[in-house]
Amino acid sequence: MTKNDSLYKKRFDGRAFNEVRPINAKVGVVPSADGSAMFETGGTRAIAVVRGPRILHPQHLQNPKEGILRVSYGMMPFSVWDRIRPGPSRRSEEISKVTEWALSAAVDLSQFPSSVVDVFIQIPQADAGTRVAGINAAAMALAAAGIPMKQMISAIAVGKADKTLLVDVDKDEEDFHDGEGATDIPIALTSRSKEIALLQLDGKISVDELKEAIEMAKKACDDVLAAQMKALKEVNEDKE
Ligand code: CDP
Repeated sequence: MTKNDSLYKKRFDGRAFNEVRPINAKVGVVPSADGSAMFETGGTRAIAVVRGPRILHPQHLQNPKEGILRVSYGMMPFSVWDRIRPGPSRRSEEISKVTEWALSAAVDLSQFPSSVVDVFIQIPQADAGTRVAGINAAAMALAAAGIPMKQMISAIAVGKADKTLLVDVDKDEEDFHDGEGATDIPIALTSRSKEIALLQLDGKISVDELKEAIEMAKKACDDVLAAQMKALKEVNEDKE
C-alpha cells in the first residue's frame, strides 16, 4: 500500500488506505418503477431506475434470441460545483456503454426475446466514483425488478495517489498532482465467481501495483456486496 517515500502519506479525509467511504444503500426509492435503488459512498450518490422487460421498438433493434439491456447514465446539472450541461456528452455515452457491458455479465435475458430492459442512472451528487456507484445501484435495481441474474455485480474505484494505493478514491484524491499524480481504476466484479466485469484505468501504474489494487478492490467489493444484499433483503422482508 503506502510506500515510505510516497508523497501521499495520510488520506485527506482520515480514512485508512483500504477503507471504503460510509455506504448507504436502499431499494425501492422510486415506487412506480419496475425496480429502483440508491447507492451512496461518501459524497457520491447514484439512483437507478429499471423499466422492463418490454417489447423493443423499433423492431429492427430487436434480438429474436434474447432481450437486450440498455443503460442511460447522466449527472444532474448541480451534482458538481461547476454545473453539468444537461443532455448527453461523450463522457455520459462512454459510462452508459461500459455500465451496460459490466451489468451484462450478470443478467440473463434469454427468457425475453425481442425485448429490452432499460436502466436509467442519475447522479444527484458527485464526489468521484460515480460510474461504480451507478453500477452498484443498477445491479440492485435489476434484482429488485425481478430480472433473472446469474450473480450480483459490485463495483469500486481503486487507485493511486503518488505511490500510495487507495480504495474508493474521492475527488480530492483524483486531483492529486504531486509525484506520480493520481491513477483511477474503476473495477466491477461478479459476486460469486469474482470475475472482472469492468476495469478501466486512467493514469500510470506498474503491473505489480495493479495486481495489488485488484486485490484491494476484491476486499472492498465484499463490503459493497454486503450493503447491496442487506438492502435487497430489507425490501423483501417489508413485502412479506
Ligand atoms: O465519476 P467517475 O469517477 O466514475 O468518472 P470520472 O469521469 O473520472 O469523474 C470523476 C469525478 O469528477 C466525478 O465523479 C465528479 O465528481 C467530477 N466531475 C466533475 O466535477 N465535472 C464533470 N463534468 C465530470 C466529472
